[in-house]
Amino acid sequence: MENRDLLRFAEEVARGAGGILRRNYGRKQSIHFKGEIDLVTEVDRQSEAYIMGSIRSAFPDHGILSEESSEILTSSPYRWIVDPLDGTTNYAHGYPCFCVSIAVEREGSLLAGAVFDPLLGELFTAKPGGGAFRNGERIFVSPTEKLRQSLLSTGFAYDVNTSADNNLDYFREFVFTGQAIRRDGSAALDLCYLACGRFDGFWELALKPWDTAAGLLILTEAGGLATRLDGSPYDFIQPDILASNGLIHDQMLAVLKKSRRDVP
Ligand code: IPD
Ligand code: CA
Ligand code: CA
Repeated sequence: MENRDLLRFAEEVARGAGGILRRNYGRKQSIHFKGEIDLVTEVDRQSEAYIMGSIRSAFPDHGILSEESSEILTSSPYRWIVDPLDGTTNYAHGYPCFCVSIAVEREGSLLAGAVFDPLLGELFTAKPGGGAFRNGERIFVSPTEKLRQSLLSTGFAYDVNTSADNNLDYFREFVFTGQAIRRDGSAALDLCYLACGRFDGFWELALKPWDTAAGLLILTEAGGLATRLDGSPYDFIQPDILASNGLIHDQMLAVLKKSRRDVP
């Protein structure tokens, strides 16, 4: 299977699922709480059913890891990694920042990634060695060299109320060292915004493969860098990520290190 064909398929399905999100946006949602603040809407499930059905009919032997379902394990080396609605809290509140994220991997290597924002009509895509694109146009990370002039982004996990590792210390430190911070509520879009130069740096502590797989490929193909928060190698299986345009990465690592030392 050519990566080009996998990417074309991922793009098509991301657009189709995005159509489901757009058509239902703003309507009263039926909401189910997975935890105290972690929710899932009927639309997450509709989008997921459409994406999984499409993958199952095109590639019946491929595995699928999708947020709202049990993983489909197969003997195939190919596995699709899907977030049918990234930014579900935003979606449920009518805040216009959410997307569909679809990636495919073969034995740990990402082969294609597509992230679609159906409200802005922005489709971010990448395949290995082929560059990253927004609606077919090549994108690159920002040339910002100084943390002080950097627009940063982060997020807080659903266990923010109960985990000691709640990101508040890092957040506080970056408020003082960066230019400004945004917390938009869609990790997949955060990575794509970094890839196209809107953000300069991004970090989060507890993400899942479906939040980051597609965005990671798009970011690295756009010239960006991702590590774990301690600077060690990152892949989409790890929960913590520090991602940047590469140029401010060491400055961000130094802030994280200092902030860790400050934590009693
Ligand atoms: C969430 C978003 C958010 C991030 C959370 C994720 P969901 O995904 O990506 O930005 O801060 O950690 O769980 O639940 O909207 O698919
Ligand atoms: Ca998500
Ligand atoms: Ca989701």
